[in-house]
Amino acid sequence: MLASFDHTISLIAPAKINLALHVTGRRDDGYHLLDSLVVFARFGDRLDVTKAVVDSFTISGPYGADLPGDESNLVLKARDALRRHYPEKATPVAIHLEKYLPIASGIGGGSSDAAAALRALTTLWGIEASLIELAALGLPLGADVPMCLHGEALIARGIGEDIERIAAFPRLPMVLVNNGVTVSTPQVFSALGRRDNPPLPALPLRMGPGDVCTYLAQTDNHLFAATQKLAPSINDSMQALIETNPLLARMSGSGGTCFAIYADDEMAEAAATRLHKTQPDWFVVATSTEGN
Ligand code: C5P
Repeated sequence: MLASFDHTISLIAPAKINLALHVTGRRDDGYHLLDSLVVFARFGDRLDVTKAVVDSFTISGPYGADLPGDESNLVLKARDALRRHYPEKATPVAIHLEKYLPIASGIGGGSSDAAAALRALTTLWGIEASLIELAALGLPLGADVPMCLHGEALIARGIGEDIERIAAFPRLPMVLVNNGVTVSTPQVFSALGRRDNPPLPALPLRMGPGDVCTYLAQTDNHLFAATQKLAPSINDSMQALIETNPLLARMSGSGGTCFAIYADDEMAEAAATRLHKTQPDWFVVATSTEGN
């Protein structure tokens, strides 16, 4: 939490990164069964909630103009879901979202915003809800909302709601890249060639960044081939990252954001500086993930 001052709660809604994403099956309702190793970056959107006389919702930030501020926004859906559940607590609230994550880009921006809204509003409204209750409220808003509520390295199974915390996981120096390619998640899932892949191999107990990458080399993002087919320019992001000699480069979620892992922060910074120079119009961020 950034601050709690005078009835204002400020939270960072971090980028969610699927280090590995295996598609292991499909449910009768069409949702896919996943086995995914998920981490969260020290970079994301910022959400401020303040007690007010009437409800309001404003958006700013580099990607703010790309996002609807109406009832279709996941932040307002989260507010309304919580309000329906706790009508006696839910007084009017002014919400401000500062959008630093590209929209619909495989790093969970909307889901992370919704999770931050649920957490911030439970605090503001003095609601005592467990993580499990909030996850149940958040799941209908998006399959990634429960994992974003946890906000730490985890394995997500089911359609994303069956969460296993990882006891110890290293902080990973990382660069995130998005070249502006837009990808529709439902279309990517529809275009999958195979839906019955094996689950993730068991995680080693203790790992440094190098061990994580050795482990990740035995895993995949099973959505990548479908995204490549629908949005071939994803290859430009991957190629640009590979040219910075990372330990590993991969796409997150259904894309189009790709990430690379480096041995240390200096190498991640140097890679981002180089990418900024060669691709000044791309989203490029040097960050690191939170360790457990
Ligand atoms: O739940 P969310 O809005 O993030 O999912 C968007 C779409 O992605 C779903 O409507 C579904 O088509 C697809 N999806 C899926 N299996 C999942 C998660 C999402 O098929 N586990």
